[in-house]
Amino acid sequence: MVCSALLPPGKTFPRLGLGTWALGGGNDWGDSDPAAAQAAVLAALDEGVSLIDTAPAYGFGRAEELLGRALKGRRTEVLLCSKCGICFKNGRPDHDLRPESIYAECEASLKRLQTDYIDLYQVHWPDPKVPPEDTFGALEQLKEQGKIRAIGVCNFGAVGLERVSSLADVCAAQERWSLLSPVGADMQSVCRRKSVALMAYGALGGGILSGKYRRMPNFRRCDARRYFYKHYFGEDFLRAQALACRVKETAARKGVFPSAVALAWVLSGGASCVLFGARDAEQVRQNAQAAQVCFSKEEEEFLAHGGH
Ligand SMILES: NC(=O)c1ccc[n+]([C@@H]2O[C@H](COP(=O)([O-])OP(=O)(O)OC[C@H]3O[C@@H](n4cnc5c(N)ncnc54)[C@H](OP(=O)(O)O)[C@@H]3O)[C@@H](O)[C@H]2O)c1
Repeated sequence: MVCSALLPPGKTFPRLGLGTWALGGGNDWGDSDPAAAQAAVLAALDEGVSLIDTAPAYGFGRAEELLGRALKGRRTEVLLCSKCGICFKNGRPDHDLRPESIYAECEASLKRLQTDYIDLYQVHWPDPKVPPEDTFGALEQLKEQGKIRAIGVCNFGAVGLERVSSLADVCAAQERWSLLSPVGADMQSVCRRKSVALMAYGALGGGILSGKYRRMPNFRRCDARRYFYKHYFGEDFLRAQALACRVKETAARKGVFPSAVALAWVLSGGASCVLFGARDAEQVRQNAQAAQVCFSKEEEEFLAHGGH
């Protein structure tokens, strides 16, 4: 069973998780409305979404602060996941996985989240400057101190995960995974072999698979959808539109929202958990439908490759 350290006996890893990158606002996604963001978190709890993913990097700490306020009195209802390793130096993001930086980041996250423990503490990106033995030794120490309950990694790929899982008890791994960019079979196989929960992010392609962009949008220069989710321009936009149309068609046939279909496709492909970003409570409610969506073999084939 994956993540037995995190879960009470008989409980399985949550299938859906609320991601808070956009909720934090800031440069990457533009302004976010704090009231709508708070309502989104509460809607997730009400919909039974029992995992929330955040990071200090999301809105320079604002996403964590928002969660600290929103989860007051309801902290134990969720597995709260945060990250370390992306720090801002002179306003610019930089990787830093030195133990002293991780200890300081963890303290700051605990304060912003208004909690005394983080359920899953994840390395946000590998940092080739620091020996992994140092990084994962520090994370094991935080676990012993009770400040974190479990260790995760993001963006390590199959080879990186294989390597670091011999250094520490890594219980979850985040990778980008959507109809636009499926995760490799090698990653799935390492996760299965090592009993690591595979968490998918970007399953909506940053929003494009909801089908709402009929024309190429004109995002600001620093928007995450220009440098991280590059499906909004040129040939990539046309390819994404074709997929978004198939998602829409499938959703209409099943009587659910397109975003739920895009998320459920990742779950049906073998993800332990799919994270979704959401700006407000209505998007959360639409996305939460994914837990109920199942596909026939023909529907899976149609979504991935087209043709009936
Ligand atoms: N570990 C990592 O390196 C890493 C990297 C990326 C993400 N993540 C995590 O994964 C989470 C999910 O990924 P993501 O937020 O980047 O991208 P995503 O889930 O693919 O897209 C989220 C965006 O899609 C739009 N959207 C969501 N639901 C919708 C709906 N029902 N209808 C229409 N539009 C909808 C919203 O933006 P608009 O309303 O503005 O269009 C929302 O902000 C993140 O929040 C973060 O927690 C982790």
